[in-house]
Amino acid sequence: MSIVVTGATGHLGRHVVEQLLEKVPAGQITAVVRDEAKAADFAARGVKLAVADYNAPETFGSVFAAGDKVLLISGNEFDKGRPAQHQAVIDAALAAGVALLAYTSAPGSLTAALADDHRATEQALLASGLPYVLLRNGWYHENYTEQLAPVLEHNAVVAAAGAGRVSSASRADYAAAAVTVLTGEGHENKTYELGGDEAWSFAEYAAELSKQTGKEIAYNSVPGEVLIGILTGAGLPEPLAAIFAGVDAAIEQGQLVVPGGELSRLAGRPTTPLAEAITAALKG
Ligand SMILES: NC(=O)c1ccc[n+]([C@@H]2O[C@H](COP(=O)([O-])OP(=O)(O)OC[C@H]3O[C@@H](n4cnc5c(N)ncnc54)[C@H](OP(=O)(O)O)[C@@H]3O)[C@@H](O)[C@H]2O)c1
Repeated sequence: MSIVVTGATGHLGRHVVEQLLEKVPAGQITAVVRDEAKAADFAARGVKLAVADYNAPETFGSVFAAGDKVLLISGNEFDKGRPAQHQAVIDAALAAGVALLAYTSAPGSLTAALADDHRATEQALLASGLPYVLLRNGWYHENYTEQLAPVLEHNAVVAAAGAGRVSSASRADYAAAAVTVLTGEGHENKTYELGGDEAWSFAEYAAELSKQTGKEIAYNSVPGEVLIGILTGAGLPEPLAAIFAGVDAAIEQGQLVVPGGELSRLAGRPTTPLAEAITAALKG
């Protein structure tokens, strides 16, 4: 029996494997990766590696065994049909008879286009009959704190989110919740809506950035079409820019505020404050 993590060399996956290593022997963890070289550090510490690609279902043929607990980390290839990619993993897990398949989804309140792939995967997972956990992860702090260069260059936070609020948390927080589910009992067929303990507005985000940098950083709320123009002007493909504008519209409508404190409950500690994530990013 293994705890198997797909997307293990991604940002979230690395946090999950690191936190698993604090709780279970390395030999009980399998990291599923596309590129073994990227996971050499895990292998050196005794983590088992499996090489598989969501685009090649046959590569998942021998990844899982009966009784495994699996974390399917959603892919990032928006243009390659993520529902079919995730279905390949679900099919392989079902064929092997895994004990649990946890999936990193999006908040149930989110209706932006970005959520469509997650809803389709959730439906496929429920239809499979596998014991499942839906980890409906809210937004990452890092979506913002890893994009500080243009903010600091122009002294402006630009978003199309009006006065909307976001209860984001750090990737490490979401990883902690996933590890609790993978190593604990009684999570079968549960849906967890996960977000940070405190929601913030972009004006508050700009104020915190101002405080920490000593600069005057303003929040510039723009209409969605203007944001799309700015993002495409900076080299982003139009469909992706439209997805980001859609997310901001959802934020304005309050769809990324996740109440309930489920994330800190599962993590066993308060979630990381945004201010702390900003400090870490500024130290960079
Ligand atoms: N909640 C949020 O705010 C938020 C924000 C961004 C993304 N997400 C979602 O959450 C996921 C995890 O976040 P993250 O920050 O860890 O993203 P990430 O760093 O981009 O990691 C994505 C992982 O998926 C793997 N992957 C992609 N396509 C694959 C394929 N065809 N076959 C096998 N593996 C594949 C990648 O493998 P490699 O390591 O080989 O590249 C990587 O390990 C993302 O993929 C996305 O679905 C959520």
